[in-house]
Amino acid sequence: MHRYVSAASLFLYALPSSACPGHYRRGENGTAIPQTYQVQTRIKPATPTATVAITNVRVWDGYKVNEPSTVYIAGDSISGVQSTVDQSIDGRNGILLPGLIDAHAHPGSVQDLETLSSYGVTTVLNQNCQNYEYCSSMRGQTGLTSFFTAGFSAKGPGSSHANNSDTPLDKLIWEPSQAPAYVQYVFGNGSDWLKVVSEQNGPDQATQNALVENAHALGKKVNTHCSLVEFYNMAILSKSDGPQHIPMDGVLNDTMLDLMYSQKQYATPTMNVFYDQLHDPAAVAALGQPAIPFEEAWSVIKQNVAAVYAKGIPVLAGTDSTTPYAGLSVSFGNSLHYELWHLYQAGLPTEDILRAATILPALHHGLPHRGAIEEGMLADLVLLEPDADPIQAINDTMKISRVWIGGLEYMNVAK
Ligand SMILES: *[C@@H]1O[C@H](CO)[C@@H](O)[C@H](O)[C@H]1NC(C)=O
Ligand SMILES: *[C@@H]1O[C@H](CO)[C@@H](O)[C@H](O)[C@H]1NC(C)=O
Ligand SMILES: *[C@@H]1O[C@H](CO)[C@@H](O)[C@H](O)[C@H]1NC(C)=O
Ligand SMILES: *[C@@H]1O[C@H](CO)[C@@H](O)[C@H](O)[C@H]1NC(C)=O
Ligand SMILES: *[C@@H]1O[C@H](CO)[C@@H](O)[C@H](O)[C@H]1NC(C)=O
Ligand SMILES: [Zn+2]
Repeated sequence: MHRYVSAASLFLYALPSSACPGHYRRGENGTAIPQTYQVQTRIKPATPTATVAITNVRVWDGYKVNEPSTVYIAGDSISGVQSTVDQSIDGRNGILLPGLIDAHAHPGSVQDLETLSSYGVTTVLNQNCQNYEYCSSMRGQTGLTSFFTAGFSAKGPGSSHANNSDTPLDKLIWEPSQAPAYVQYVFGNGSDWLKVVSEQNGPDQATQNALVENAHALGKKVNTHCSLVEFYNMAILSKSDGPQHIPMDGVLNDTMLDLMYSQKQYATPTMNVFYDQLHDPAAVAALGQPAIPFEEAWSVIKQNVAAVYAKGIPVLAGTDSTTPYAGLSVSFGNSLHYELWHLYQAGLPTEDILRAATILPALHHGLPHRGAIEEGMLADLVLLEPDADPIQAINDTMKISRVWIGGLEYMNVAK
């Protein structure tokens, strides 16, 4: 059951719901495919103190797969060589990846963290906080996916996101003079970054600029929702650190790409949510998006992701997974693996795709001790099956053998 449902999907905010219809992914023809777990059982949520040796693993270090070695865990972190260990695990010559990071999602319950954990997603970035008590309760769940969060999204009166989320007037923003108080409100409530929604009737250019300036003055980052060219351009001009989604209605021109590159912005294209939802004309209509045939929109999306990547702009993996709303639902966990496949379809090399879901989000969101397998890092690890090699076949990230989160094994290997 969801205690609270948070969550902006790409286009809508979910409303509180007492039912838990579960999640599904839309298949090729829009048919709902039920969400399943990669693994079923969590071992135990206790503070880890043991030393563990994972022997005979090939560590992917962010650049290459290394010769077989042993990785040691002490408590919640990766350690140097331990002379005595409490537990030794044979990695069977499998590839060991850093825990995966979903840089754009909307988990609505601890159950969603369980699902993410089961798919090796050890960190999730929640891209809208609809309720600060709820967001605070999601943090620090020992043995489960770590939760970091945006604040309550900054949106304009009469915008699609405002219309769909019962936002009180004093939480809407339409002029630059409101920016300092809005930014105080977001960070006064412990948010990790500011989220702005750039859309029809959203904050205008001057207001977006003021929001970004005020957040940057506090040393905080900004992510901006923008799925159409006009609004993506506004996000770029505002100097938002990370425009979210990618235009589906037209190509990014060189001026925009040059500016993104020179301003050191990154992109989190969330191809998954477009692929998942654009197959369904009814969903597109309900979401108030332009009615562009799927093949056409998908081709523009792939072209834009390829252009961003070719420019040298960092690409981060995000899914826009969300709790159900009005018949829409984007599944957690498996969707990050699908996003990796979509990035591959856009032409990214597999090494950079793995970086998009590990070290790049850690670096660009300023998440310490994550995204790589090195001494002192959190022991967030994904051990693949012996025959899996995602450098050769990106979908092999799905062949998960075992998962550790902060030094605790999530996976029950009764299979
Ligand atoms: C749609 O796809 C699902 C699973 O991907 C399949 O079971 C079903 O038969 C398909 N339906 C049609 C009408 O093609
Ligand atoms: C939001 O609702 C207002 C008032 O009904 C309407 O004028 C506006 O067009 C709506 N916005 C969108 C994006 O549909
Ligand atoms: C935090 O949010 C609450 C409710 O949304 C608001 O009333 C309060 O002023 C905020 N706190 C700060 C320090 O801004
Ligand atoms: C690039 O696209 C943006 C957004 O549509 C537009 O404002 C700008 O004029 C375009 N620049 C060029 C050189 O076409
Ligand atoms: C990779 O996975 C996706 C999503 O399940 C699937 O559509 C695709 O066919 C797979 N690709 C390969 C090469 O197996
Ligand atoms: Zn979203």
